[in-house]
Amino acid sequence: MQDFVRGILIIFYIVVVTSSLMINIGESKRNFNVVDYGAVGDGRTDDSAAFLSAWKAFCEADEPTPKLQIPKGKTFLLQPITFKGPCKSRNVRVRILGNIVAPASVQAWKDCKSNWWLCFRDVNGLVIRGSGTIDGRGSAWWKALQLNNCNNFTLREFTIQNSQQMHIYIKNCNVGSISNIHVNSPADSPNTDGINLAKSTQIHIHDSLIESGILDLIFLILITIC
Ligand SMILES: *[C@@H]1O[C@H](CO)[C@@H](O)[C@H](O)[C@H]1NC(C)=O
Repeated sequence: MQDFVRGILIIFYIVVVTSSLMINIGESKRNFNVVDYGAVGDGRTDDSAAFLSAWKAFCEADEPTPKLQIPKGKTFLLQPITFKGPCKSRNVRVRILGNIVAPASVQAWKDCKSNWWLCFRDVNGLVIRGSGTIDGRGSAWWKALQLNNCNNFTLREFTIQNSQQMHIYIKNCNVGSISNIHVNSPADSPNTDGINLAKSTQIHIHDSLIESGILDLIFLILITIC
């Protein structure tokens, strides 16, 4: 009888432990924090490789809504980088709560042939949002944030600043929404574009503040381009 009770208790224990482990694994899989993939976030270390391995795990995740977390209170230095899809999910979320900065000078830039800095390519259902800042640090001749062939995207809430050319460049994308974005560059910036659309349809841009140099034009725009 004692053995029987002990057996039951052991089985019960195994079931409880394995199911709670499974729940933990399930939870940790939905959130992909760049820090867990080796990103340092001190503003000096090149975190590009860590971001790419976090992106790979996130993009290949067999999850309905995986989230890539860029945590608050840290500054991540990234070289020109391409986040390539297609991803397994059609609802992939990038949460920018911290800051992302470009190398301080073009000399520090590894791939100087690249004309963009952060590029998302072939990703469907991409949502990039959060209270963080993307700072190009005035580095010349790049498109700071580029989305290429990304259908059904959402860009929300973050600030993007100090790009010397285009802050946001949208190319070959169908259906997209850009809202509550702050494009912020000094009044004496050279030829800066806030949001540049190319070969794209049904991109809705609204409730955004665009301050992008030359005359320091401030637009509060409510436009719909179909
Ligand atoms: C569009 O993207 C959103 C957000 O990722 C997602 O919830 C929705 O299912 C997508 N729609 C289609 C038609 O894929």
